[in-house]
Amino acid sequence: ALRAAVVSKVQNNNPRSLNYVQPQASYKVAVLGAGGGIGQPLALLVKMSPLVSDLHLYDIANVKGVAADLSHCNTPSRVLDFTGASELANCLKGVDVVVIPAGVPRKPGMTRDDLFNINASIVKNLVEAIADNCPDAFIHIISNPVNSTVPIAAEVLKQKGVYDPKKLFGVTTLDVVRANTFVAEKKNLRLIDVDVPVIGGHAGITILPLLSKTKPSVTFTDEEVEKLTVRIQNAGTEVVEAKAGAGSATLSMAYAAARFVESSLRALDGDTDVYECSFVQSNLTELPFFASRIKIGKNGVEALIPSDLQGLTEYEQKGLEALKEELEASIQKGVDFVQKQP
Ligand code: NAI
Repeated sequence: ALRAAVVSKVQNNNPRSLNYVQPQASYKVAVLGAGGGIGQPLALLVKMSPLVSDLHLYDIANVKGVAADLSHCNTPSRVLDFTGASELANCLKGVDVVVIPAGVPRKPGMTRDDLFNINASIVKNLVEAIADNCPDAFIHIISNPVNSTVPIAAEVLKQKGVYDPKKLFGVTTLDVVRANTFVAEKKNLRLIDVDVPVIGGHAGITILPLLSKTKPSVTFTDEEVEKLTVRIQNAGTEVVEAKAGAGSATLSMAYAAARFVESSLRALDGDTDVYECSFVQSNLTELPFFASRIKIGKNGVEALIPSDLQGLTEYEQKGLEALKEELEASIQKGVDFVQKQP
């Protein structure tokens, strides 16, 4: 019931949790890549948060218009715009949560890994600035390939001597959002009640929904499991193809990212009952990074939830074994990108 209350609170912005009373608009959030397809609707959703006092929008493209537009919404936060590298440091000073949707999205026929060459450098440069200006902030990485960009961020933070693994998150919330939606549709459940943990990583077969752990408890035929799993794994590509060259998921991604921001802010604000899935440094498997459910607290990742990996079905266990090789290679590619730079 508590979990349902938390989910419902995140989705409805309705503070019902037992240990959480009145939100205070006292947190500063920065969005890097705020002029983009994800950045703009994400900024709008964060502007609606009752917990945010300051919303900083940064992009290499002009974000003055986005900021002016959003600043007219009569919600608590003050919106400031920062355009170009010379304004990045000021954008980041004093910020509590930094969200990074900067970079190029997929076009039809591309894998997330095809974005590596461009997005790896973008993430590296942005995280260097975070290390210099707000090393204590929670960092939410959306830019793909998440399986590599999160390890890149970790290596940069290590080089700068400020790596706190509890505060670095790969945003995989969209996989959970999709899984919840597809399962609720398939099983005629009330969407608000459905919660499917999604583990592994954020690309193709590394996205592993644990349908057997769906709450409320629900049974699936083998065929349903296969179809739902494949649909959840390929849902991003569904959108890429429907947009036919105009990019990848932006609106559902903004929704998912805003949910993750709100969860982080509630945790910072003292809510002790905040759970999300995220791609983080992990010891749940032999891989150094792994997406699983985590408990988020004031200091970031408070606990990984190992019980999700126990009692897997044969199908899930096979999926888990099958994803490890690809995920390990993507993680290593990220690490090498930073370590092998001249
Ligand atoms: P977009 O091209 O619409 O927007 C990207 C924005 O980043 C642009 O405004 C661009 O000017 C800005 N940008 C580029 N280089 C920058 C830099 N060095 N510093 C600051 N801003 C910079 O792309 P969209 O659709 O918003 O996607 C962004 C990223 O999010 C892509 O890498 C995409 O693959 C990823 N993504 C991740 C998902 C996830 O579940 N984690 C889901 C969907 C997309």
